[in-house]
Amino acid sequence: MSTPPATAAPPATSPPATSREVHLASRPSGWPTPENFSVAGVSVPALAPDQVLVRNVVMSVDPYMRGRMDDRPSYVPPFQLGAPLDGGAVGEVLASTSDAVPVGAHVLHGLGWRELAVLPAARVVVVDTQLAPAGAYLGVLGMPGLTAYAGLLEVAAMKEGDSVFVSGAAGAVGSLVGQIAKQRSAARVVGSAGSADKVRYLVDELGFDAAFNYRDGPVREQLRTAAPDGIDVYFDNVGGEHLEAAISALNLRGRIAICGMISQYNDTEPAPGPRNLAMVLGKRLTIRGFIVSDFNHLQPTFVPEMIGWITDGTVRYQETTVDGGVEAAAQAFLDLMRGANTGKMLVRF
Ligand SMILES: NC(=O)c1ccc[n+]([C@@H]2O[C@H](COP(=O)([O-])OP(=O)(O)OC[C@H]3O[C@@H](n4cnc5c(N)ncnc54)[C@H](OP(=O)(O)O)[C@@H]3O)[C@@H](O)[C@H]2O)c1
Repeated sequence: MSTPPATAAPPATSPPATSREVHLASRPSGWPTPENFSVAGVSVPALAPDQVLVRNVVMSVDPYMRGRMDDRPSYVPPFQLGAPLDGGAVGEVLASTSDAVPVGAHVLHGLGWRELAVLPAARVVVVDTQLAPAGAYLGVLGMPGLTAYAGLLEVAAMKEGDSVFVSGAAGAVGSLVGQIAKQRSAARVVGSAGSADKVRYLVDELGFDAAFNYRDGPVREQLRTAAPDGIDVYFDNVGGEHLEAAISALNLRGRIAICGMISQYNDTEPAPGPRNLAMVLGKRLTIRGFIVSDFNHLQPTFVPEMIGWITDGTVRYQETTVDGGVEAAAQAFLDLMRGANTGKMLVRF
């Protein structure tokens, strides 16, 4: 019997020993720049019992990640300097020490921003990539989809006959809010977005009744033209001028779901509140903020309903996918913050 030479290559089926990941190199002040990120090579640890090794196929970049780049308490902990960022991703299981998650399965998990992820099998969810492409589990069937569904139907309590206004309407969440409102028999659905192409997409492809480009003029005036009889629900993705305009446009007992305020995420000083907040009183308005994770109990109704809508084509979704994995991820995030995406922004490995 001969002993193999010490330099023999590992068997072709051995999992890779090294990976690359995106680190937070410095904390942004105001708008983030590429210098705030770096790509690092790391070795991959051996699997402990009940763990999986996942090769990421696609990862999400999301506006909430901007808040995590600041060192301040929030509903989700800040990213650490010199450590990898994290976030939603879907990947293929390369190795597993768990009976529950087989090699070859595709899984949704929270360790994006890296090529390879080692994590407990209990922290991944097996997804069916025959039913929907991997990226859909980060968008229309994932966190943004549930955000739209819960925010509109539960938080804003939208009902048949309501007139609905959504900002950030061509993005991952907003594009679904408008379409779900249509499915639930809204009387009128109005969206705002940041380009003429996006406005056309909302009206011509997604069936919004009206849409406007918020860069074309004051939101208050454009909203008044788009919704001459006022609005009953405002789904806020943007804050600032949009929120103030919506308060003015809301009808008696109108409801606002505060989902996000992206226009303020890069501010270095707190933005002033809406100047017309006193209208909340006379109009008996409800303003309610929410975080999607408060609504995980809606998954069992959201997922089948959304699968039904996308299967029969009544809800359409678009993705803006950037290739290049860890090398492209930081720029994809920066581009998302400036509106380069229509629908969900994804990074493919
Ligand atoms: N509460 C929750 O649990 C929860 C969960 C998910 C998302 N969110 C929030 O929901 C919002 C949308 O998230 P998303 O993932 O669907 O992102 P997204 O809308 O797909 O992408 C962000 C969009 O924001 C728009 N934007 C950027 N700066 C703006 C500004 N100053 N004024 C108006 N629009 C601006 C850009 O589109 P334009 O070209 O139209 O400017 C950009 O495409 C964000 O505020 C996010 O933080 C909240």
